[in-house]
Amino acid sequence: MRVEKVGIIGAGLMGSGIAQVAAYHGLDVTLVDVDQAHVDRAIAAIRARLEREAERGRISAEAAEAASHRLRGSADITDLTSVARAEAVIEAVVEDLEVKTRIFRQLGRVCRPDALLASNTSSLPLSDLAAASGRPERVIGLHFFNPPWALKLVEVVSTASTTEETLQDALQLCRQLDRVTVQVKDTPGFIANRLLVPFIFDAIELLQTGVASAEDIDLACRVGLNHAMGPLATADLIGLDTLKAIAESMFEEYGEPRFKAPTLLRRLVSLGYLGRKTGRGFFRYT
Ligand SMILES: NC(=O)c1ccc[n+]([C@@H]2O[C@H](COP(=O)([O-])OP(=O)(O)OC[C@H]3O[C@@H](n4cnc5c(N)ncnc54)[C@H](O)[C@@H]3O)[C@@H](O)[C@H]2O)c1
Repeated sequence: MRVEKVGIIGAGLMGSGIAQVAAYHGLDVTLVDVDQAHVDRAIAAIRARLEREAERGRISAEAAEAASHRLRGSADITDLTSVARAEAVIEAVVEDLEVKTRIFRQLGRVCRPDALLASNTSSLPLSDLAAASGRPERVIGLHFFNPPWALKLVEVVSTASTTEETLQDALQLCRQLDRVTVQVKDTPGFIANRLLVPFIFDAIELLQTGVASAEDIDLACRVGLNHAMGPLATADLIGLDTLKAIAESMFEEYGEPRFKAPTLLRRLVSLGYLGRKTGRGFFRYT
């Protein structure tokens, strides 16, 4: 199935990034969030990023303008009728099972019968969302990476109820979006976060026990391990609230201490220091 219209639920870091990628690759995008002002801000930010990309010569000015015209927003988060005609919907709201379950229940009610229903969840049980939708055979995980316009990987996550046709439709959508895919079963953290989260938590332990400064921990990983970004800067980029939520569901599922959110991470979240998106996390961004 070739997708022409895509609905994206959630206009935060990931939803707006995925919307940008989809619009750039020629899809008509409807971006939905809880209120209109939030959606309008997200669309303005996407347009500004596209313009910047064009100014830097990474994309043509025509492509940036065409992509901008393919974006529209809606705040109908409760009934979701704005995405009823989309061939594919990608959900990217907060990492909260209750919120996502509500959305999948509603998507099952309003979407066209053949719509592909995807979640960008990092760690929550996709099978629960599939069941809530009432059409579990059409539900799949499409786990994009942050920021989606720069990182091409998508983990394509199947549940026991995902059909081969759904998997093929999802892979075709990823090809339309020029993504690199890996296939994985419905398990918390999939491949990348299962490896990354304990690594970040060890870095936080080093910091909170005073072994080294945040700057030196990240410098060691960048220069010594040849990582593009240090673990603490990566945590700030993910968003510390999102990282904590991901860890909580991984810890609940695996029960292993390596997935337990360190005290310092929980304290920073309580203070509202959520990383780049609030201007302060392990580092300051203002
Ligand atoms: N941040 C990352 O690096 C990253 C990477 C891959 C996947 N993800 C996943 O993507 C999803 C979104 O993460 P994000 O980083 O974009 O978070 P975010 O906090 O930037 O955005 C979340 C969005 O959800 C909306 N929202 C909040 N409450 C809602 C509700 N009750 N109903 C509907 N929408 C609501 C918010 O308004 C916000 O726009 C999560 O499932 C996360 O695990 C995140």
